[in-house]
Amino acid sequence: MDSFLIKGGVPLHGDVEISGAKNAVLPIMAATLLTAEPCVIRRVPNLSDVRFMGEILEWLGAKVKIDGDTVHVHARKIKGHADYDLVRKMRGSICIMGPLLGRLRKATVSLPGGCIIGARPINLHLKAFAALGAKIKIESGYVEATAPRLAGGPMFLGGRAGSTVLGTANAMMAAVLADGVTIIESAACEPEVVDLAKFLTAMGAKLSGVGSPTMTITGVKELHGAEHEVIADRIEAATFAIAAAATNGEITLKGARADHMHAVIDKLHDAGVLVERRGANLVARRNGKLKPTDVTTLPYSGFPTDVQAQMMALMALTPGISIITERIFESRFMHVSELARLGADIEIEGPSAIVKGGKPLSGAPVMASDLRASAALVIAGLAAKGTTQVNRVYHLDRGYDNMDGKLRKLGARVQRIEES
Ligand code: EPU
Repeated sequence: MDSFLIKGGVPLHGDVEISGAKNAVLPIMAATLLTAEPCVIRRVPNLSDVRFMGEILEWLGAKVKIDGDTVHVHARKIKGHADYDLVRKMRGSICIMGPLLGRLRKATVSLPGGCIIGARPINLHLKAFAALGAKIKIESGYVEATAPRLAGGPMFLGGRAGSTVLGTANAMMAAVLADGVTIIESAACEPEVVDLAKFLTAMGAKLSGVGSPTMTITGVKELHGAEHEVIADRIEAATFAIAAAATNGEITLKGARADHMHAVIDKLHDAGVLVERRGANLVARRNGKLKPTDVTTLPYSGFPTDVQAQMMALMALTPGISIITERIFESRFMHVSELARLGADIEIEGPSAIVKGGKPLSGAPVMASDLRASAALVIAGLAAKGTTQVNRVYHLDRGYDNMDGKLRKLGARVQRIEES
């Protein structure tokens, strides 16, 4: 398992090209299953999750070619069954279920199970399929949805923590080929959902109200092939903005979209960090001293849970008391004990973490537990004195395109130690 060796204390300066968004490209790749015609997806990040989604599509019968940052998928003939060994490796693979149900009227997919950040149920996905007339059966670890006739209808997808991103994506991808009109209430408004809708529209689907909590979908008989360019990854952009602030450098985030990052830019501003538009790019740097702040994660357009861990690393460097409240995933604080190994003083109180910031951080070996926790440890390591070894960076490779290469280009002393 590879690790990163980081010699901290170097302010990061320069440009970083923001890649396509992981959480947009995965459901978009799944949506190619909705047509027998070829599709082309551009600005695809080089991630193990993308390669893995490609393998799932191939397993289902599609031809997949990854050519640099372009992916070609041709799902001429597909089957509707995905095994445990496929689904368990990437929880996001549940988003193949909607397109399979839409196209084949039957989908059998292994239940994905929980993951380190929480239980991650799929009850809302199943509620959506049932609202379209599907019969749901759960047996021997598999969920089967069958609908000889899929019929559009109203559905409410609000859950304990608000809307569901992939649940909304699944509902959309089944409803585009259902008979009649589907209205999704409490639909997720994330830019990644909007990007999926853009791809579906290019395939011939009829959607309105996209990006608002009420989405209307009028089913069509069939969809055709389409080309699409994926939006910039707002979480990657936020991660590099925080790395600029943590190391007291200045980073130009090339291609980052300010209009997808209002909550992050606003909170960083409160924390003493400027993220400003410069032409087509954003530039991130400190604006004087770092200031303690409080952050609550919420569905879009609130502060994203996927930036919570990175923000905590910044708070650990900020003198004073900062508070983070995690409202989306119940156990997304695995990075706290690892940040403590670097010298951070953080207490967990229910869904909140109280960060007593400003204590000097010093390098140590730490263990990455999930994708965003790993990013937080890298940020802390970049700002810490001495050497930090972040183990298990395969988590990072799932969701950050060439993070070590991009950091080195910004002047960071980061070395990847490859282990077989
Ligand atoms: N939830 C339910 N029932 C469901 C589905 C979700 O109760 O059927 C709950 C979840 O347990 C959670 C909340 O609803 O409390 C929101 O979960 P959501 O369904 O929105 O998450 P997701 O769609 O499975 C995507 C991203 C995550 C990101 C979340 C929230 C992908 C592939 N994954 O997951 O990304 O954290 O939305 O924004 O799009 C990451 O990139 O590091 C990552 C984990």
